Amino acid sequence: MNANPESLSLELLAWYDRHARTMPWRVAPQDRMRGVRPDPYRIWLSEVMLQQTTVAAVKDYFHRFTARWPTIAALAAAPDADVMGEWAGLGYYARARNLLKCARAVVADHGGRFPTTREGLLTLPGIGPYTASAIAAIAHDEAATVVDGNVERVMSRMFRVETPLPAAKPALTALATELTPATRPGDHAQAVMDLGATICTPRNPACGICPWSRACLARIAGVQADLPRKAPKAEKPLRRGIVWLGYRDGALLLERRADKGLLGGMLGLPGDGWDGAGGPAPADADWREVGEVRHTFTHFHLILRVQVARLDGTVARGTWVDRSAFRPADLPTVMRKAWDIARATLDD
Ligand code: ADE
Repeated sequence: MNANPESLSLELLAWYDRHARTMPWRVAPQDRMRGVRPDPYRIWLSEVMLQQTTVAAVKDYFHRFTARWPTIAALAAAPDADVMGEWAGLGYYARARNLLKCARAVVADHGGRFPTTREGLLTLPGIGPYTASAIAAIAHDEAATVVDGNVERVMSRMFRVETPLPAAKPALTALATELTPATRPGDHAQAVMDLGATICTPRNPACGICPWSRACLARIAGVQADLPRKAPKAEKPLRRGIVWLGYRDGALLLERRADKGLLGGMLGLPGDGWDGAGGPAPADADWREVGEVRHTFTHFHLILRVQVARLDGTVARGTWVDRSAFRPADLPTVMRKAWDIARATLDD
């Protein structure tokens, strides 16, 4: 077997032509060959959603977003709260705020069309090297190299890179770049990701059916399951806090969080800051403790005590939201958990 980059890519593309996963935003290789072009809006939206989130979790969100906002112009015109509400549950909420910023920049500065090059895409808010490469390759067939966790795993095995992640990232990117072909770079990018997601999986890789098996240095040495090596992760600290659900007849006291920071821009129950400083409740009341929520963020575990009270007088902060206008699905997951506990105790 000839393991030069061209023949490796050809073999991978032949595999992809038979085994490409079907995804709502993807143009199948056969359609691509007939001249069907991917919609850059859908590629961009899917790639932003797929950062830190699995394909399975993204599909429903993608369908809801594109049904409600079929074009970038429609998304750019949407109220912030509607977009944040549809994003609720996907996590990493800065992605949703940047999504809107980017949509509005494309409409305001680029006539509603995404730039067609990686370099042009990089000038947009919220589009970093990964997303720019993915859109340039998949939507515009630029020979850009797309490197996500799947691709890093595939490269670390193909070339038997023993350096642990994250230190190995530049070397793995360089190797992925060497394999990026001039023909069909978009399908190649998607093929490497599919290979990592379906065959070259973290545990028990299916080397017996892998198109790159004969060239794979880790498989030849029998160390594929040990790669990529990873530097030990720091333990996550535990933080504690309180959230309050105040209510009166037909309304709930909620709060939209500041744009910057954790859960930025999202609707939620007022909280004490969760930093140990013990911020004040939104009103003086006879708060009853009704339960506890556990949630894990990227950098810490959180335990929140949930307290409820009927409120009669004035409140120090928050917004009264009619029960009829309140959609629990608009809440980020940690707040949704708190709401589920609190609602069971409400007496109206
Ligand atoms: N993960 C992120 N983007 C992807 C894509 N375009 N194809 C397969 N897996 C992906």
